[in-house]
Amino acid sequence: MLNVALPKGRLGEKVYAMFEAAGYECPSIKENNRKLIFENEERGVRYFWVKPSDVAIYVERGAADIGVAGKDILLEYAPDVYELLDLNLGKCRMAVAAPNEFHDDEQKTLKVATKFTNIAANYYASLGREIDIIKLNGSIEIAPILKLSDVIVDIVETGTTLKENNLEVKSEIVPISARLIANKSSFKFKGDDIEKIVESIKKQVQAND
Ligand code: PRP
Repeated sequence: MLNVALPKGRLGEKVYAMFEAAGYECPSIKENNRKLIFENEERGVRYFWVKPSDVAIYVERGAADIGVAGKDILLEYAPDVYELLDLNLGKCRMAVAAPNEFHDDEQKTLKVATKFTNIAANYYASLGREIDIIKLNGSIEIAPILKLSDVIVDIVETGTTLKENNLEVKSEIVPISARLIANKSSFKFKGDDIEKIVESIKKQVQAND
């Protein structure tokens, strides 16, 4: 049995559809209930719905053999897992954004609000820029409006949230998408099953292109 951690939510639905099309269906998952674990013994898969930001933890610790996590989470937490495949889903970018009129004064320490403190710290370290990081847990866009920070480092998908709050992208840090990841020891001991699923899913990624 291959244990698969899927990110709960809209991205997870798309990811499951891809696994289904690849031949790893689990019809009970579509029943309208609040169960979180589903299995198809015949196909040898067991799916769990977990919080998107927790997928990498389940996989790193071996509670799941494989899973699907955003590149943002992989960059931020650097879990000790194998990254096997870019699913080309959940595409967005990690960016620095600020009020339209903001101009950076390089003489001053930049106040940066973000959920992604490591990504922000690494990015500004690579520029040699001194920053003061303010860790927030959501609704990051409010921070520069209320002058809690100068800029934010956050995920931009359609750009609507920024636009509606009079913010704009000032620089792009890295493109983000969903990645198939594997636990390192599962990859050794269930390697054939994992390879098989990866090959089938690769075909779905190509078909979606
Ligand atoms: C993310 C991100 C932005 C928004 C960007 O928030 O933090 O707020 O999506 O999407 P857009 O460019 O399409 O407007 P999410 O909904 O994940 O919630 P959060 O506030 O908890 O981060």
